Amino acid sequence: MVESSFSDELFLGLETSCDETSVAVLRGDGSVVSNLVSSQIALHAPFGGVVPEIAARAHLAVLPTLLDGAREALGGSFQGLTAVAATAGPGLVGALLVGLHAGEGIATGLDVPFYPVNHLEGHLYSPFLRPGGEPMQTIPFPFLGVVVSGGHSAIYRVDEGFRVTRLARTRDDAAGEAYDKVGKICGLAYPGGPVVDALAATGDPAKFDLPRPRFDDGTLDFSFSGLKTAVLRRLQAMGWPSPPPKGSVEEPPPREVVDLLAGFQEAVIDSIETRIEEARRKVRPRAIAISGGVAANRGLRSRMASFSERNGLPVLFPTGILAADNGAMIALAGALRYHRGLAPGPARAVSRWDPAS
Ligand code: KG4
Ligand code: ZN
Repeated sequence: MVESSFSDELFLGLETSCDETSVAVLRGDGSVVSNLVSSQIALHAPFGGVVPEIAARAHLAVLPTLLDGAREALGGSFQGLTAVAATAGPGLVGALLVGLHAGEGIATGLDVPFYPVNHLEGHLYSPFLRPGGEPMQTIPFPFLGVVVSGGHSAIYRVDEGFRVTRLARTRDDAAGEAYDKVGKICGLAYPGGPVVDALAATGDPAKFDLPRPRFDDGTLDFSFSGLKTAVLRRLQAMGWPSPPPKGSVEEPPPREVVDLLAGFQEAVIDSIETRIEEARRKVRPRAIAISGGVAANRGLRSRMASFSERNGLPVLFPTGILAADNGAMIALAGALRYHRGLAPGPARAVSRWDPAS
């Protein structure tokens, strides 16, 4: 547990698993001292998705500047650091290696422990961080951790002792990936998530009846690829070019496309909410913590605010940039490992790694 008595400790966190480079400093009580994020979106946008080689090179180019910024936030030196953490996976291996080796080098130079951490573990605890230098919230166990990002959609049960059990995963596309693909087939700017979110707010979700796929094997697993295909079919029926040339579509697109996007967003949110409701009945959690890039979605936030009120259950979302990839959540995952007395580990990058394993 992160307590106020740990406020003298300082943790450095490095995140380079995908298309955001981030370096953060966190106190042992979970207060954020500094959290610098450099997004590579503009570099990948012309390709409509993340290009691994470009990502790795961009991390390498920008990381020294972010490390300088973190050092400055500490008065010009890393000397007082308690431990260093960096994302070891899941993610793009070439990109992960940049932060991992930089982090390991800093830790070795300072003779402090180095924690290679799971990116999803970072997301899981990120809703408990607070803005403005305040200590983090106490984590109420058991809680349901819902990670909805560009690469992952999963629901975890997190018990006392930080025991993580997976209750659901996606069988095909992740929620953010579905947003990005739908944005792409509509010819919208990359990444589709924030654009579709903004347009959906102005459309009528009842105009299109779209599927909410479920498996009949008793699992709560997600599936979003059928929904994406259903959107594509509706677009084709409207005579929409498939796929429209990038950037060819003016924003806002025609009314019926905006309504279709609203219907898509409603179906995604329904899929997430119904699974959270089923998991809530099973687990009887003390809180629900929703994280990952899609946790920035305004429709999802407002739906879950009603859910929270109806069930008298706290539903937490990360504040500001802490929904997307960031170093603060990685420093936090490292701090929680340090406080539990877990052994630091070797810097090995892994593309797949479930936090429940
Ligand atoms: O967590 P994240 O920054 O990176 C991964 O670990 O994947 O998530 C990025 C994903 C992208 O797919 C992006 O389109 C989506 O989060 N996203 C959103 C919104 N903002 C970002 N999806 C829906 N609504 C949003 N407002
Ligand atoms: Zn992420």
